[in-house]
Amino acid sequence: MILYYSATGNTKFIATELAKKLDDQCIDLLVRIRKNDYSELHSDKPFIVCAPVYMSEMPRFVYDYLKNTSFTGSRAVYFIADNAGYAGITAWQAKKLFKKKDMEFMGCAEPVMPNNYYISHYKGQTDDEIKDRLFKAFDKIDEISNSIQNCEKLKTRHVLLAEKLITLPINSYFCKHKINAKDFSVLDKCIGCGKCEEVCPLSNITLREDKPSWGDSCSHCMACIGNCPTNAIEYGTVTREKGKYNFEEYRHFLNEIR
Ligand SMILES: Cc1cc2nc3c(=O)[nH]c(=O)nc-3n(C[C@H](O)[C@H](O)[C@H](O)COP(=O)(O)O)c2cc1C
Repeated sequence: MILYYSATGNTKFIATELAKKLDDQCIDLLVRIRKNDYSELHSDKPFIVCAPVYMSEMPRFVYDYLKNTSFTGSRAVYFIADNAGYAGITAWQAKKLFKKKDMEFMGCAEPVMPNNYYISHYKGQTDDEIKDRLFKAFDKIDEISNSIQNCEKLKTRHVLLAEKLITLPINSYFCKHKINAKDFSVLDKCIGCGKCEEVCPLSNITLREDKPSWGDSCSHCMACIGNCPTNAIEYGTVTREKGKYNFEEYRHFLNEIR
């Protein structure tokens, strides 16, 4: 059973490709996460959990969801940490989390995908860079599915103590003081469709007079910005300058390798 969370489509692409190659079922965790639905998940095949990397770790809401949910049937679990260049401490976190759940950790793969975090200091990426990453990811997905098919463990990067010592306190500070929804705004072209409300994993968006209004909890996942059908959501002036990311806008590149 393949479980995934995806804000802007990269992880969904990886999860669905794996499902096709492994002939396995694929479950989108968004609704479960939004509803704090921790009902049991059962699979006779190994569990394969796919999630993006946020600030060098697993998104905290994904971590909480996995921690609180019971997995029955197979005791084997693979983790796929979809990232834009540095997966940080995710592999270590995943290993620790699943060991506590008495599961056999089968390793963590770190496929590199295009960056969706346009509001960070990241300089942005060209279409050629996006295409190159998608092509390489396609090969990586093949490699991952072959290993899983052969019941092999995935080669897992060793996370250094220094990485943990740097990431954990910095992220606690950032999550408390810097990651918030203050700078989101909506333009007049918003049609009040409610897509942003529906895709927010923290249920932090409500429609007021048909326009999104952001509450206090926000993970900066980029789902609201990246999935708006009229491109009406901005973050300060950054997204006007750098644009926005959604995997579906680049899927056509993959036709060139199929
Ligand atoms: C809040 C946030 C933080 C991120 N931090 C990292 C990071 O530390 N390292 C990294 O390589 N990519 C980072 N990224 C990029 C995403 O992990 C990457 O683009 C991923 O493919 C997005 O997956 P999705 O489209 O399924 O949401 C971050 C993205 C967001 C939204």
